[in-house]
Amino acid sequence: MNFPHSPVMLRSAIKGLNIVHGGTYVDCTFGRGGHSENILKSLGNDGKLIAIDKDKDAEDYAKNNFIKDKRFIFEKNNFSNIVNIVEKHTKTNKVDGILLDLGVSSPQLDDASRGFSFMKEGPIDMRMDRATHMTALLWLQEATIEEISKVLKKYGEEKYSFRIAKAIKIAIEDNNLKTTLDLSKIISDCYPKKESIKKNPATKSFQAIRIFINKELQELEKILDDCLKVISIKGRLVVISFHSLEDRIVKNFINKYSSGKNIIRKLPITNINQNILLKKIKIPLKATEEEIQENIRSRSARLRVAERI
Ligand SMILES: C[S@@+](CC[C@H](N)C(=O)[O-])C[C@H]1O[C@@H](n2cnc3c(N)ncnc32)[C@H](O)[C@@H]1O
Repeated sequence: MNFPHSPVMLRSAIKGLNIVHGGTYVDCTFGRGGHSENILKSLGNDGKLIAIDKDKDAEDYAKNNFIKDKRFIFEKNNFSNIVNIVEKHTKTNKVDGILLDLGVSSPQLDDASRGFSFMKEGPIDMRMDRATHMTALLWLQEATIEEISKVLKKYGEEKYSFRIAKAIKIAIEDNNLKTTLDLSKIISDCYPKKESIKKNPATKSFQAIRIFINKELQELEKILDDCLKVISIKGRLVVISFHSLEDRIVKNFINKYSSGKNIIRKLPITNINQNILLKKIKIPLKATEEEIQENIRSRSARLRVAERI
């Protein structure tokens, strides 16, 4: 199968990385290498790109299409292991820039057998890393109504979370929950008929279950903290997020380390004891019309850039 993929906010992301010729960069979310390909174009012969993805399909794609480039290294791993990965592949334990293009890739969404899409019939799987044990269906079978409801509310901001969770458990008891389309219909049926909504009613619940199964927000929080250890001074952190939960974490993180707390003016306080480790780089937060035309997913993307100081 061949899934075309055009990278989200490509130009802004590359600009944000401020690539230096002989630098070392990490693309933490390789996918199909749309951003990686363009990082390599900007790198000199002595540069290095470490690409990470926890999805075996991404690994296969990298091995078939990128690995001949001597500057390129692929790690099938969780990006939250960034410190170990950078230690393994660099002498200095530091890199000049890190890119995170969060969430699922278009190929993952388009492949019905991955179970990410509420519009395509497939198993209720949703694992980015299929070497892990817990599929979405397994979790729905094991969890209580309260646990499911909590996840739908927390990660999907779903107002009918309890009603949906109850309907899911009833369907499981009646042996009526097998595929993504079964799940999508159960969720849609929980919405009042007269309520008009712009998006498919299953959007929020699918997002919530996917975020939970893949521990997406915990992984994000961990890597942001660890980036501070591995990005060298003047190096860049570029993060593209797709929903408010992710963007809030990124925004708060950059704010936390780019504005010192309890600063008493006139005292000789250095950046280190003010905990100022980052500088916000001003760059448009949203995609340009051109970028949206290249990839419609850019419409909901938010890009944030910070420089290590
Ligand atoms: C939005 S896609 C990236 C697309 C990529 N920038 C491109 O241009 O092809 C996100 C990718 O990150 C991977 N991913 C998400 N969370 C991850 C994590 N915690 N560790 C490693 N890979 C992760 C997913 O498997 C997916 O392939």
